[in-house]
Amino acid sequence: MTDTAAKASTRKLTVRVNEQDLDVSGVAGHTTTLNFLRDSGLTGVKEGCAEGECGACAVLVSRPDGNGGTQWTSVNSCLIPVAALSDQEVYTSEGLADGDKLHPVQHEMAMRGGSQCGYCTPGFVASMAAEYYRPQRRSCADICGSQSCGSPENLENSPAQCATDHELGANGFDLHALSGNLCRCTGYRPIRDAAYALGEVPTDDRMAKRRGQPAPTAAPFQLQHAEGDFVRPASLSDALDHLAGEPEAVLLAGGTDWGVELAIKHSTAPLTIALDQLDELRTLTQADDYLEIGASLTLSEIEHRLEGDIPLLAELFPQFASRLIRNGATFGGNIATGSPIGDGAPVLLALDASLVLASQGGERVVPLSEYFTGYRASVREADELIRAIRIPTPVAPHARFYKIAKRRFDDISSVAVAISMQVSDGQIRDVRIGVGGVAATPIRATDAESALEGKEWSHETFAAAAQVMSEVGTPLDDHRASAAYRSATAAQSILRFFAEVTP
Ligand SMILES: Cc1cc2nc3c(=O)[nH]c(=O)nc-3n(C[C@H](O)[C@H](O)[C@H](O)COP(=O)(O)OP(=O)(O)OC[C@H]3O[C@@H](n4cnc5c(N)ncnc54)[C@H](O)[C@@H]3O)c2cc1C
Ligand code: FES
Ligand code: FES
Repeated sequence: MTDTAAKASTRKLTVRVNEQDLDVSGVAGHTTTLNFLRDSGLTGVKEGCAEGECGACAVLVSRPDGNGGTQWTSVNSCLIPVAALSDQEVYTSEGLADGDKLHPVQHEMAMRGGSQCGYCTPGFVASMAAEYYRPQRRSCADICGSQSCGSPENLENSPAQCATDHELGANGFDLHALSGNLCRCTGYRPIRDAAYALGEVPTDDRMAKRRGQPAPTAAPFQLQHAEGDFVRPASLSDALDHLAGEPEAVLLAGGTDWGVELAIKHSTAPLTIALDQLDELRTLTQADDYLEIGASLTLSEIEHRLEGDIPLLAELFPQFASRLIRNGATFGGNIATGSPIGDGAPVLLALDASLVLASQGGERVVPLSEYFTGYRASVREADELIRAIRIPTPVAPHARFYKIAKRRFDDISSVAVAISMQVSDGQIRDVRIGVGGVAATPIRATDAESALEGKEWSHETFAAAAQVMSEVGTPLDDHRASAAYRSATAAQSILRFFAEVTP
């Protein structure tokens, strides 16, 4: 490591867990929060899969709410190195009760039979508590005075602003908050009953009061350990110095790919560089002709801050993994892994996005369509990181994202197709189609784009383009889907787009 790289200080590190400071100064850079908590005696946090799929390990962390306060956010503790949580506040299911008095979420789970073997319960409780405290959760009574609108039985009588679908309770509880939690034995109805039975948060609730104060700051530090160091850099330039100084270093944002690599391949690095709290990677700004999204903003944060302004992104978010994963996952990590079946790349390709790559030498802007060079390979140099993603604005008005996967939520795509275009003077213009799952990299379906560009909006035009789309890429047969199925669904997405978008 270079001298200039050593700007973050070595100091005593603690994580505040259930209102007590736990010393993490001696952990290795790759020690997961799950392992640390269990080794500290907090065995309510369970290990199910250790790779983000089951939610048994979920805990609450204090994160900035974007308005100067704190939001209790549920995350998978199996995917986050505990060093990344130093200076932060964490609650496990053990810390939620107030003395002998169960937390309202625990009380409802117990009263409504939401727990049988109990293995999944602490994780459900954490996810449910995060939704309980979500500042935007508003009950039907809040919105229009009704006690029942939004309930699954009464949808047809519900005002549009509160009853979006059958997964939203009359108490404003969004069941998608639990989409990353699996239960093998209770069945989901009693769990849903518990969620929908939750009332308003009392004003004297200690965790509710905590929301009004700023989230903990994230001071830089450097942790040294024989099995792997960890650094939270002071700035982007500090991070780039560390990256240049250690060729084997691994960057960390949300950890949702990092944690899986650790669990499956036992990949550890001599140095882990945390990018998650770097201000320079956490901005969201609108310039004259593009929107710039910081590479380390979580998908949940982007979803919340954009409020549907980019419709294609608004379609992507609910289909991307689960709320637990989206609370950690970033676009920087999603693009950097270079997965051919990642969902971010097809959407960003259809939005004609570019990446801002930063190194000690400065910045360069690379169109995403020129970024991938082969299977998990890209033009990004070893000393570069993704600082931001730029999306040209205004975006084309007609856009859809189709994710074909075996399950509706929390599944990896077999094929993903994002389509964007506009119509001017009766002709189709600015067509961009991003596709995942049909080649070694995410690709643009340029032949299908050409089959649409400049043509009239008609079934014949789209049918011809669908025929071209059936030849897109070089799809493989694997356990997720056959090559023939991938080609057929890619083609079908063109026809589906026509059917859905035609007035
Ligand atoms: C249960 C589960 C479900 C998932 N479902 C989906 C899904 O539906 N769709 C999907 O696309 N993906 C999915 N993923 C994969 C993962 O969540 C995404 O790829 C996510 O966007 C990764 O972001 P991260 O911040 O967590 O990356 P991290 O794990 O922190 O990092 C991943 C890699 O990117 C590098 N990196 C991170 N940030 C940068 C940066 N700014 N510049 C350069 N390199 C960087 C890291 O070094 C690391 O190699 C899923 C993962 C899990 C565990
Ligand atoms: S242990 Fe299954 S998600 Fe963490
Ligand atoms: S209660 Fe047994 S797994 Fe959920």
